[in-house]
Amino acid sequence: MNPFEFATATRIRFGPGSVTRLAEEISEIPGPGLLVTGRDPSRAESVRQALRRAGRTWSEWRNHGEPTVAAVLGDSEEARLSGARWVVACGGGAAIDAGKAVSALATNDGDPFDFLEVVGRGLPLRARPLPFIAVPTTAGTGAEATRNAVLGSPVHRVKVSLRSPWMLPAAAIVDPSLSLSLPAAVTASTGLDALTQLLEPFVGSRSNPLTDSLCREGLSRIARSLGRVFDDPEDTEARSEMALAALFSGMALANSGLGAVHGIAGPLGGMSDIPHGTLCAALLAPVWMANCEALIRDGDPDNRLFRYREAARLLTGNPGADISDGERWLTETIIRLGIPKLRELGVHKDSFEELVSKAEASSSMKGNPVRLGRSGIRDLLDSAW
Ligand SMILES: [Fe+2]
Repeated sequence: MNPFEFATATRIRFGPGSVTRLAEEISEIPGPGLLVTGRDPSRAESVRQALRRAGRTWSEWRNHGEPTVAAVLGDSEEARLSGARWVVACGGGAAIDAGKAVSALATNDGDPFDFLEVVGRGLPLRARPLPFIAVPTTAGTGAEATRNAVLGSPVHRVKVSLRSPWMLPAAAIVDPSLSLSLPAAVTASTGLDALTQLLEPFVGSRSNPLTDSLCREGLSRIARSLGRVFDDPEDTEARSEMALAALFSGMALANSGLGAVHGIAGPLGGMSDIPHGTLCAALLAPVWMANCEALIRDGDPDNRLFRYREAARLLTGNPGADISDGERWLTETIIRLGIPKLRELGVHKDSFEELVSKAEASSSMKGNPVRLGRSGIRDLLDSAW
């Protein structure tokens, strides 16, 4: 067995109503804080109530869309000036990443590009971030349990990570009741992002026994609940299952990496405005087939096809399912949840050369179970188009 490490948020509170206990996480940190919300600040009302009840003071910042380096830099300066001692983010993955980045840059002033991967110098943070609490309102990115924040750099047309072991949240408060009113389209794309983040660490080259158990548990919960929350947004039991699966997906990816779906969706998200989960969903079945074909053709020394077969069984619920049944389940699910092809999302084929180069260089691609090469990536993009 290979050696492995595992790290996650210092404390996880899970369950309907868990947001009411949020202030306990900062009870020992005196002084004001910062609350980062998403596009719809009213979704953070239960966080405000919890802070108010505890007599805490805070300022607020509303994050619009996926955060950029410039936006979080501006806000981290404001956080420094206002003397914020802690940061809470309540919203989807973008708001949580924004809060996480602000908490890191508030204690690490200077040029943020010093700390950014790919487009910057990738240096380690000099100082510990402000204590950060994540309160997700979608069941998708698992950002409440990861050590990186994805930021857009519009000048470079890429999304890059600010990453540090210190950026794991001090607390992840996962209250499934906060996702009850999420629209069906967001439920679908974020849920398929979580599914991808459970599949890629499970079949990938950096899997370990601890994340394997999270992935198995998460995949079977998503398989039985994603269709239910899509049809009935108020299904509290299915919402809880999705929130738990998304949390597990963050814990898995933070410790076992990702694969080609994220290797392509990351840079493509930087070249377009298409939501991350939608891109992952559109690439999921083509990458499944491309990886399995490459493993059959080029050899499979680590028995990754066995894992694909197990994933197919978890997804379909059929103990006799094979790899092709898994691919069929993914394709049918993606159609049923209304995920368009890349062509319908406005992706142009003339961007594929640039995209292939960026995907090959991405950190996620290193976790893919097999090397696809330029032509392999190009072919799977054609079938996702
Ligand atoms: Fe993702």
